Amino acid sequence: MIRERLKHKGAVTGAIAALALFFSAGTLAADEVTASNTATFVGEEVCASCHETEKKNFGHTLHAKVFRQAPKNQLEKQVCEACHGPGSLHATDPTDRSKLIGFTKNWGTPQSEQNAKCLTCHEGGNRMNWPGSIHQTKKLACSDCHNPMAKFSASGLLKKPSITETCQTCHQQQRAEFRKKSHMPVPEGKMTCEDCHNPHGSTAPRLLKADTVNDLCYTCHAEKRGPFLWEHAPVRESCLNCHLPHGSNNDKLLKQSRPMLCVSCHTFAGGGMGQTFRHPENTGTGGSVTQIRGRSCQNCHAQIHGSNSPDGARFRR
Ligand code: HEC
Ligand code: HEC
Ligand code: HEC
Ligand code: HEC
Ligand code: HEC
Ligand code: HEC
Ligand code: HEC
Ligand code: HEC
Ligand code: HEC
Ligand code: HEC
Repeated sequence: MIRERLKHKGAVTGAIAALALFFSAGTLAADEVTASNTATFVGEEVCASCHETEKKNFGHTLHAKVFRQAPKNQLEKQVCEACHGPGSLHATDPTDRSKLIGFTKNWGTPQSEQNAKCLTCHEGGNRMNWPGSIHQTKKLACSDCHNPMAKFSASGLLKKPSITETCQTCHQQQRAEFRKKSHMPVPEGKMTCEDCHNPHGSTAPRLLKADTVNDLCYTCHAEKRGPFLWEHAPVRESCLNCHLPHGSNNDKLLKQSRPMLCVSCHTFAGGGMGQTFRHPENTGTGGSVTQIRGRSCQNCHAQIHGSNSPDGARFRR
């Protein structure tokens, strides 16, 4: 029996560790001076005299409830002006756009000033890693995902009815991935982008909610964590050695169809790729692998994620 072992391949070297990102804490323009600094608070009723519809729609949100009924501090008491800043100058001259903080694209308030306003109350917590995160550095505004002027979503004051729809307004490619034959049940509404990503920032690459890809996958697929008596090296290293995270046209989110997936790392004598060995089940003379390729590797190697059987060194049980 041939005992030659597969050598570790480039494909299975620690890509994740190398990817670890360390975000430097950026600073927000807290000291930004605007014309509205000379303005004073006028109160919600004055705003409502010209913005009745906004006042009505805003009334359905959590901010309205808290700010109107149980304000925790002076700022919250200002209701509209807690976000838009003191509005006396705007109320006298609504055409001068520098006199009020606006959150729509054409109003002209710098995005950093808009975000700083939201962050005066929402810094830290889930937004601990917002400074330096990809969405912050790409200059997204909080209002690219949130619209606090009405209750458009069941939770989270999002712009769209769901988290996934909100993300997909920009991430069209991922939308396509979730439409492939095999996919995480995101389109079915059984999970959302936010189950795996923190849009406000993360210490891991790709805004992931866990330190590594595998830790993320284990949160739901705990049975794959092991430890197993017999580990399959590429599984321990990264689930993404074999799976795509969003969707695939192959079975079970696999990167390649089988047996090509297995053979891309395990080459056999005559296979012509990298390190070669002769498969023990191959009774042919030339060391050709065609016979076993015809059958799924997993007919025999069923426990591909690892095995606890005393007899499981080859993941057959
Ligand atoms: C006298 C009427 C009047 C009052 C009072 C008034 N506004 Fe306005 N507001 C307007 C008009 C008119 C516009 C549109 C100006 C434009 O498009 O150039 C406007 C625009 C806005 C915008 C639009 C920003 C954007 O992104 O497009 C916001 C926000 C706003 N007002 C908030 C307030 C708040 C908060 C108050 C109370 C402090 C207030 N307004 C009081 C008349 C008023
Ligand atoms: C929690 C912060 C917050 C509070 C409180 C708030 N707004 Fe806004 N407002 C926003 C944001 C963010 C937008 C931009 C929404 C978008 O993307 O269209 C906005 C947009 C607006 C606009 C522009 C038109 C629109 O609907 O997009 C007006 C006018 C306005 N607000 C008035 C008010 C008034 C009047 C109040 C109080 C009754 C108020 N806002 C309270 C954050 C706030
Ligand atoms: C003056 C303080 C203050 C400001 C400014 C403020 N918020 Fe809030 N926000 C609150 C409070 C209070 C709550 C209620 C929940 C809580 O206590 O955390 C809340 C809740 C929320 C929620 C959760 C709502 C829900 O229904 O679950 C979102 C999302 C949110 N804010 C986004 C924003 C955004 C975006 C901005 C800027 C446009 C903003 N906030 C500005 C104080 C503020
Ligand atoms: C890329 C999209 C995106 C951006 C940008 C974004 N958020 Fe969010 N935010 C979300 C999503 C998604 C949720 C979860 C909503 C839910 O659970 O229904 C959320 C939830 C929240 C909540 C409520 C739950 C919590 O985490 O405390 C607050 C408050 C909040 N965001 C504030 C902000 C502030 C402040 C900014 C700007 C600095 C911001 N967000 C920028 C997508 C975004
Ligand atoms: C307003 C547009 C916009 C929205 C909405 C948005 N994103 Fe993004 N996102 C970006 C941009 C721009 C980048 C930078 C990379 C790129 O250009 O694709 C990015 C990057 C990312 C990345 C990759 C991070 C990396 O390190 O490469 C993830 C993951 C991500 N977004 C998740 C989300 C999620 C989850 C949501 C919804 C909660 C969301 N995004 C909503 C614009 C958006
Ligand atoms: C089951 C967990 C999971 C869900 C759900 C999920 N993602 Fe991802 N996403 C990942 C992983 C894992 C990566 C790849 C990380 C890596 O390559 O290191 C990733 C990568 C990304 C990237 C970076 C570019 C890329 O494709 O590699 C973007 C952008 C992104 N996701 C957006 C989204 C959006 C938008 C949604 C919802 C429509 C979503 N993701 C849902 C796990 C998930
Ligand atoms: C938030 C929970 C959650 C996370 C995190 C998660 N999954 Fe899933 N996964 C699911 C659910 C739910 C299903 C669907 C199960 C079903 O339909 O029976 C699924 C299905 C799958 C499937 C089978 C797909 C098919 O076509 O049958 C694979 C493979 C998979 N996940 C791999 C992964 C990998 C790899 C990761 C890490 C990148 C991951 N999962 C992270 C919840 C999760
Ligand atoms: C060496 C390739 C490989 C790696 C690495 C790998 N898988 Fe798989 N996975 C497969 C194959 C092949 C299948 C389909 C055959 C089967 O069902 O066993 C599969 C199926 C699955 C399924 C669906 C069927 C089931 O067993 O529940 C889930 C969930 C899954 N893998 C999760 C993971 C997770 C989580 C990781 C990382 C810890 C991972 N996989 C790493 C090859 C791999
Ligand atoms: C990303 C590369 C990669 C993929 C894909 C892969 N493997 Fe592996 N496999 C390895 C490595 C590395 C080892 C450990 C070899 C060692 O320890 O000498 C291994 C070990 C094995 C072993 C045990 C061999 C021994 O010598 O102990 C079997 C059996 C096996 N793999 C079968 C499969 C099957 C079946 C598939 C397809 C479902 C597959 N592998 C996919 C890299 C891979
Ligand atoms: C008919 C059943 C069967 C099929 C199909 C099969 N194998 Fe095997 N495989 C075995 C047996 C039996 C062994 C030897 C087990 C032992 O020595 O304990 C083995 C051993 C291995 C080993 C370890 C070789 C060594 O030198 O120790 C690898 C790697 C392997 N198989 C990969 C594959 C791949 C990849 C496929 C699909 C292309 C495949 N096998 C298809 C039964 C099978």
